Amino acid sequence: MQAPILDLDFIDNRTPDQAAASCDTKVSAETNTGHQRKLYIESYGCQMNFSDSEIVTSILFEAGFDTTAEVTQADLVLLNTCSIREKAEQTVRHRLTQLQHLKRKKPHMVVGVLGCMAERLKKNLLEEEKMVDLVVGPDAYRDLPALINEVDGGHKAVNVLLSREETYADINPVRLNSNGVSAFVSIMRGCDNMCSFCVVPFTRGRERSRDAHSVVREAQELVNQGYKEVTLLGQNVDSYKWQSEDGAEKVNFAQLLERVALISPDLRVRFSTSHPKDITDEVLYTMKKYDNICKYIHLPAQSGNSRILELMNRTYDRTWYMERVDAIRRILGVDCGISTDMIAGFCSETEEEHQDTLSLIDFVQYDYAYMFFYSERPGTLAARKLQDDVPLEVKKRRLQEIIDKQREYSHLRNQLAVGQVHKVLVEGFSKRSEEMLSGRNDQNKVVIFPKMHFKKGDYVNVLINECSVGTLFGEPVL
Ligand code: SAH
Ligand code: SF4
Ligand code: F3S
Repeated sequence: MQAPILDLDFIDNRTPDQAAASCDTKVSAETNTGHQRKLYIESYGCQMNFSDSEIVTSILFEAGFDTTAEVTQADLVLLNTCSIREKAEQTVRHRLTQLQHLKRKKPHMVVGVLGCMAERLKKNLLEEEKMVDLVVGPDAYRDLPALINEVDGGHKAVNVLLSREETYADINPVRLNSNGVSAFVSIMRGCDNMCSFCVVPFTRGRERSRDAHSVVREAQELVNQGYKEVTLLGQNVDSYKWQSEDGAEKVNFAQLLERVALISPDLRVRFSTSHPKDITDEVLYTMKKYDNICKYIHLPAQSGNSRILELMNRTYDRTWYMERVDAIRRILGVDCGISTDMIAGFCSETEEEHQDTLSLIDFVQYDYAYMFFYSERPGTLAARKLQDDVPLEVKKRRLQEIIDKQREYSHLRNQLAVGQVHKVLVEGFSKRSEEMLSGRNDQNKVVIFPKMHFKKGDYVNVLINECSVGTLFGEPVL
């Protein structure tokens, strides 16, 4: 299958399915429990945002809202937004313009902006986008019912306070757009890393880890409901660190991973994102120890050049990154899937430094990559201290070179699977035919095979006999 090309600052080599899991739009589904008012929620950006929308829906369900998949039916329209690149914000502004027409027809419809753009722009958003009634940052969702009351009373409402404690640990998310097979579980919030290009520390606040018991409880409940896969989410999962109030119990990421893996051998466990500076051998050995922890690591490099990595404030260099990749290959073998994020054309990047990114791709031979060109974000370290001096055409050309090289490796890595038997967790019908099923293998690759007597949620051993850049095809081994 051809790579879906969404726009030039977000190009990747994943299938649409995989793209939906990370940088796309998702809308709420229909629930009808007799509640009076209807919520329509649309989510942009990363998995953390999709996961947050499930928390928001849960909070608003308690406050008397059912969800709708039809924006025209909604009393409350929420956009959960992303600020990571300029383009992400433009998409939201465009959507707000579209909603303006609906609001003219339905003046009582409340429109709210949540998430990272709300946090970045704060009350300015109310001045810039006149039809917005409500601006709520990622740590203030518990306040939503009260804020909606204020709007009902004829006022605009804003809460963008960031918190050092909020993890929404006690809230039971309402699963949106769920296939009933896989779910995301947030294990931490915020980020303390201050990569110079990145807006996330400003929009999500300080890093905090969620109570380990509440994580295990949520995963156990998902298993009880028939889910077969959980993905533990955080901006930097390897720095997960939780301790009980009396300090007697301390849990790091490897230990949390083990606790979740022990819930059931039938539950697949994934996690994202790993920071190269923090991923430990202990995590890799824990992955090796449990068959149900998927052998796939998203390990964003951002650049292959040590000077650029320093300017990016990533706190590792090329040698360190390569050593971590060697450790993955040594402990988990060559079959372990590895993916990355790469930024082309960061401030002052020379042609030779760009070549280092290409040669790092040659060294690692990634299974997937999420590739972007640098987009300056107001308020970040890079915006304040560095010149965004690589011309746009050069950024785009370098990005294209990265994409072209990565496509070859995605194909090559898929070809290695041909002739092997892979355990696939079925997620549903393939997009093209109800005679075919679609699922994922351990390395998070989409596998398509004939339905026969199998169904969603089954584990099926599939002999891979063909592949494209983004997909594997095979036959069940009976
Ligand atoms: N916590 C993750 C990244 C989350 S943001 C990590 O540290 O790896 C997802 C990706 O968006 C980043 O990895 C980076 O590649 C990209 N990104 C972030 N800020 C960007 C910017 N200003 N311009 C272009 N890409 C950016
Ligand atoms: Fe952003 Fe860096 Fe934190 Fe990732 S680790 S969210 S790139 S600051
Ligand atoms: Fe995620 Fe975008 Fe915010 S990537 S953390 S929604 S800026």
